[in-house]
Amino acid sequence: MIKGVIFDLDGVIVHTDEMHYQAWKRIAERIGVEFDRETNNRLRGVSRMDSLNIILENTSCFSDTDKQRLADEKNAIYRRLLDGLTKNDVDAAVPKTLRELRNRKIKLAIGSSSKNAALILNKIELTEYFDAVSDGNNITRSKPDPEVFLKAAEYLGLAPYECAVVEDAYAGIDAARAGGFFSIGIGDASGYDRADVRIRGVANVLKIMDMPLDRRLG
Ligand code: BG6
Ligand code: MG
Repeated sequence: MIKGVIFDLDGVIVHTDEMHYQAWKRIAERIGVEFDRETNNRLRGVSRMDSLNIILENTSCFSDTDKQRLADEKNAIYRRLLDGLTKNDVDAAVPKTLRELRNRKIKLAIGSSSKNAALILNKIELTEYFDAVSDGNNITRSKPDPEVFLKAAEYLGLAPYECAVVEDAYAGIDAARAGGFFSIGIGDASGYDRADVRIRGVANVLKIMDMPLDRRLG
């Protein structure tokens, strides 16, 4: 029986994944490193510094100090892009689905690698829908490590097997599986065969809740 749903934030609740891409692209262009959407998909769910290390994987000319400066710069660009973010940037199906899950007494949490999660939730006015937020500020290892989801489940007072995780990142699906959660792939991860189920839109989470467990897993 699923008693809680843990949602990833960027690329699931709101399309800030595009802003991450734009910000990294600007950094990559400035330092003359190739960066495209395919590489960007590998950054989904991955922490800021781990993302930068992926972008720089074919170069060795950046010191740790340079990297810290580039990561800070990326975050400044990203936060400027977030300036204009409002609740109108969220698909109407999202608050509707969250409301319906709450009506059904399902506990809700955010499980995000981002250190900007609280800021984003405030801007899109969805903070109050979530019983708990586990994010980049309370973890030491980012996805595919399950830490962020294990913390979210702990904050909800639930065991992993009682929670579903909704993720757009391959690393997020791997993290959910590693932690013993039921995994739901959406967006980029709707093409990932390791997800227990794959859906097209957030509203479909409700349909999955209605399914008996054997059908969900079959
Ligand atoms: C994840 C994104 O949610 O957060 C990653 O999918 C991002 O792309 C990571 O790198 C860290 O985000 P932030 O906001 O702390 O730089
Ligand atoms: Mg994501």
